[in-house]
Amino acid sequence: MSSQDIVLRPGTLGDIQFVNKLTRSQIEAGLPKTWNIPRLIRCLRKPDVVLLLAHLEDDEPVGFALMEYQDQDAHLNLLAVEPNRQGRGIGRLMIEWLEKTARTAAVSRVVAEVRVDNRPARAFYQRLGYRESELLQGYYQGMVSAVRVEHRLFRPNPKEVVKWDLFIDNYLCELTGEL
Ligand SMILES: CC(C)(COP(=O)(O)OP(=O)(O)OC[C@H]1O[C@@H](n2cnc3c(N)ncnc32)[C@H](O)[C@@H]1OP(=O)(O)O)[C@@H](O)C(=O)NCCC(=O)NCCS
Repeated sequence: MSSQDIVLRPGTLGDIQFVNKLTRSQIEAGLPKTWNIPRLIRCLRKPDVVLLLAHLEDDEPVGFALMEYQDQDAHLNLLAVEPNRQGRGIGRLMIEWLEKTARTAAVSRVVAEVRVDNRPARAFYQRLGYRESELLQGYYQGMVSAVRVEHRLFRPNPKEVVKWDLFIDNYLCELTGEL
């Protein structure tokens, strides 16, 4: 099996049990549970949240990612691949899809937190171009620290931002008859 045998699709509430199981075993192992089913459901109902499912052609789910899109940033809340499917490009495939979507939405940065003791995931993010920007002491219920990682997708051009702001100001003035 390679990442070419993987299909990506938007997740639904029907995928919650799979997400919950993988979050427990792969992300929150050894920590008090914070991502429980009610929280996952609340999160999925938000309009700016995308649940991405990776599955085999026979429909067996093998990984997922949960990302929240904000104005400038997108926050990758959860990401996991089934242990026996790791190291085959599935994590990369999901991140690349999410980053492409983020770029389309003019989001300039993807941010995530990773357990400081999770060396494999830190190496994974680094390989995908993420920079470790901050150490967050006791981030996981005061028990384990996290490293914030971020990937800048593009730098907004300040000149373009100024031009755009002026355009909006003029447009609003015209609308309200203030010109
Ligand atoms: C972290 C995780 C999502 C990565 O997914 P994956 O499918 O195993 O990773 P991929 O096979 O797509 O790897 C992508 C790249 O990262 C590199 N990489 C992955 N794991 C690595 C490791 N342990 N050490 C060094 N590099 C690693 C790969 O070599 C690959 O590089 P390449 O594409 O240039 O060859 C997965 O291992 C996982 O679910 N871990 C447990 C949960 C977790 O830690 N989640 C992240 C924090 S919330």
